[in-house]
Amino acid sequence: MPKSAIITLKLLVHLLCLAPFLWLLHFYTTGALALNPDPVNYITHFTGNWTLYILLACLAITPIRRLSPKIAWLVRFRRLIGLYAFFYATLHLATYVFLFSGYDLPSAINSLRAGHPGDLVTEWLQIWPGILDDLLKRRFIQVGLFAWLCLFLLAVTSPAFIMRAMGGKNWRRLHYLIYAAAIAGVIHFWWLVKAGVRTPWKDTAVLGVLLLARVVYVALKKRQAKPASTRVEHSAR
Ligand code: HEM
Repeated sequence: MPKSAIITLKLLVHLLCLAPFLWLLHFYTTGALALNPDPVNYITHFTGNWTLYILLACLAITPIRRLSPKIAWLVRFRRLIGLYAFFYATLHLATYVFLFSGYDLPSAINSLRAGHPGDLVTEWLQIWPGILDDLLKRRFIQVGLFAWLCLFLLAVTSPAFIMRAMGGKNWRRLHYLIYAAAIAGVIHFWWLVKAGVRTPWKDTAVLGVLLLARVVYVALKKRQAKPASTRVEHSAR
């Protein structure tokens, strides 16, 4: 694929991945979000859902590109999409910390403007025990945080120089964490939904298909490799 086409497609991927965030920003700035009965809940769910969608899109790249060598260039977008999954996961976490958990963001910003940066910490110290309590009591928060940590590790080790420093094999091994993040993300969703209200069976089905595709690919590769090794054994005898 020509370089100019890759650049154009990358621009498109940026736009597509930023679209939900820009939409949320627009929703907020026009005042429409304030009309929602529970804006914080809305943002939490919006960012949580988009984290999962983008994470699944990132996982889908490898099985799709294996369908034909002609679309091998798709792999060039995996890192970018993965970083957007981390971006939405961090927005989601920040929503939880700064909005969901009762952090008084407007007062903190006013204090900062008035030259009292210490108030940011005071505010944080007030909500910290509640967050810790949530973390210890609610398993969906624990598994969500685990998923975020996986994505964090993937994001910080994504630059090429870190990959070189780690060595390709170690880097690839660490990057299997993308599967752990997606599985933990789906478990997080199952554990937080109220039965009968909404269940994440669609996300689970997509993840199941993607994991199955990987298992089938590995099994097929092993089968293809077997006759070759048997041949080597026979010729050695
Ligand atoms: C990769 C990481 C994560 C993913 C994929 C994820 C995904 C989701 C999804 C899909 C929802 C539900 C959306 C809906 O019902 O429409 C959700 C809700 C939520 N998540 Fe996460 N999440 C992640 C990490 C976290 C973390 C780290 C925290 C907090 C420490 C967190 C806290 C919450 C809360 C409080 C809710 C709303 C619960 C409620 O409705 O009572 N999530 N998340």
